[in-house]
Amino acid sequence: MANVLNTSGILTITLKTFFGLENALKEELIELGYSDVMVLNRAVQIKGTWEDVYRLNLYSSCAISVLVTLANFRIRDDKDLYDKCMKIDWTSIFDIKNSFAVKGAVFSTLFKNTHFPYLLVKDAIVDTFRNKVGDRPDINIKSPQVVFDLYVKENEVTIGVNTSGAPLFQRGYRQSAGEAPLNEVVAAGMLRLSGWDRKSYLMDPFCGSGTILIEAGFLATGLPSQMERQHFAFKNLKNFDRDAWGKIQEGINRKLTALPCKIQGGDISDEMVLKARRNLRGLPFGRFIEISPTSFQEFKKAESTGTMISNPPYGVRIGEEIEELYGELGTWMKHDMPGFNCWVLSASNEGFIAIGLKPDKKLKLFNGDLECEFRKYVIYEGSKKTADNSEIN
Ligand SMILES: C[S@@+](CC[C@H](N)C(=O)[O-])C[C@H]1O[C@@H](n2cnc3c(N)ncnc32)[C@H](O)[C@@H]1O
Repeated sequence: MANVLNTSGILTITLKTFFGLENALKEELIELGYSDVMVLNRAVQIKGTWEDVYRLNLYSSCAISVLVTLANFRIRDDKDLYDKCMKIDWTSIFDIKNSFAVKGAVFSTLFKNTHFPYLLVKDAIVDTFRNKVGDRPDINIKSPQVVFDLYVKENEVTIGVNTSGAPLFQRGYRQSAGEAPLNEVVAAGMLRLSGWDRKSYLMDPFCGSGTILIEAGFLATGLPSQMERQHFAFKNLKNFDRDAWGKIQEGINRKLTALPCKIQGGDISDEMVLKARRNLRGLPFGRFIEISPTSFQEFKKAESTGTMISNPPYGVRIGEEIEELYGELGTWMKHDMPGFNCWVLSASNEGFIAIGLKPDKKLKLFNGDLECEFRKYVIYEGSKKTADNSEIN
C-alpha cells in the first residue's frame, strides 16, 4: 500500500487559478524563484518540495489553491478506480479525527453519473481506514479539514490533496465587504496584467472595500498576501512540519517604514471608505494608503502621472445609471487623466461603449461568475494624442 506523503522525492504541485490569470500566476511563480512553470488551463504546474507547498500557500496571490499530486493512473472501469484507490494508504495522509471531502472535475464517458467517481474514491478512503484502524473518518462537504482533488479525463485519473482547503482568495484581511466586492485573486491578477511597475503612483477612485489598493500594497512590498490567513489545510495532514512552516513565516517583515510608491483610493460612499480603511488598518502598509470619500470627478490625485485600476459599478449588482456614469468617466479620463494608463474592469458592455474612448487593450476575465472585460486606455498628454483617444470603440 503506497505511503504517499512521506516520500522525500520531488512533488508535482498544481496551482489553480481563474480563467485569464494563468500567465499572471506564471509570472508570480517565476518571481518567487520557480523557473520551470508549465501553464495549463486555469492552472500552472511546477515541481517542488513540501516547503515549497507551504511557501506557495502563503505567498501566491494569483492562485486559488495549491494541490499536490498523490497518484496518477489509468482505469478501465469504475471498479478499477475503486481498486486503484484502495492501493493508496490514506491512513498515512490524515488522522481519523479529521473530516474530509473529495472534490474536483470529471470528464469521462466511463461514468454515466459524474458524481459516482467521487463516491468511489470516498468509499476507498473509508474502507482503507476501516480495514486498517477499524473505524472511519467523517465526511464534511461544507468545511472539510482535508480535501482530496479528483481529476478524471476519459480513462486518466489524477488524485491530489488540496493543501489550501478554503480558497486562497479568503485572505483573512477583509473584515468588511461592499455589495459588489472584487475577488482578491482577480484583483492581484489585474495588477500584474496591467504591467504596473510597483514604483510609480497607483490609484483606484472606485475603491469600494479597497481590494485593488490592498493587493497593490502586497505587490509593492513583497509581503505575502495570505499573511493574515490562519487556515491552511496542509496543517491537517500527518506530515505537517511545524518547524518548516515557522521558518517560512519568520521571513515576513511586518515592520514597514514606508511604501515604495504612492497608492491612493477614493469612493463616493462614506460607508465604503470606512470599510476600506477598516480592511487596511491591520496591515503593515495600511497607514500609507490614503482613501478619500469623494466622487471620481472630485478626486485629488497625489501625482500627475501613473496608473489607474478600477472596477466601477457594473449595474448588475448595484442598480445605477450605468451609461451616464461611464460616459462621465470617459470624459473625465480624457480631460483629467493625461499621462495615466487607465484600466477599467467591467461586465457592462453598454458602459464600455458609453466611455467613448478607444481601448489600447482588452482582456477577458471573470469576477465570480460574471464575465468581464479588463480594458486599458492610454491617455496621452497633448491635444493630438488625446484626439486619438476620442475614437469610439
Ligand atoms: C464594483 S464596486 C468596487 C468594488 C471594489 N473593487 C471592492 O473590491 O470592494 C464600485 C464602487 O464604486 C463606487 N462608486 C459609484 N459611483 C461612484 C462615483 N461617482 N465616484 C466614485 N465612486 C463611485 C461605489 O460606491 C462602489 O463602492
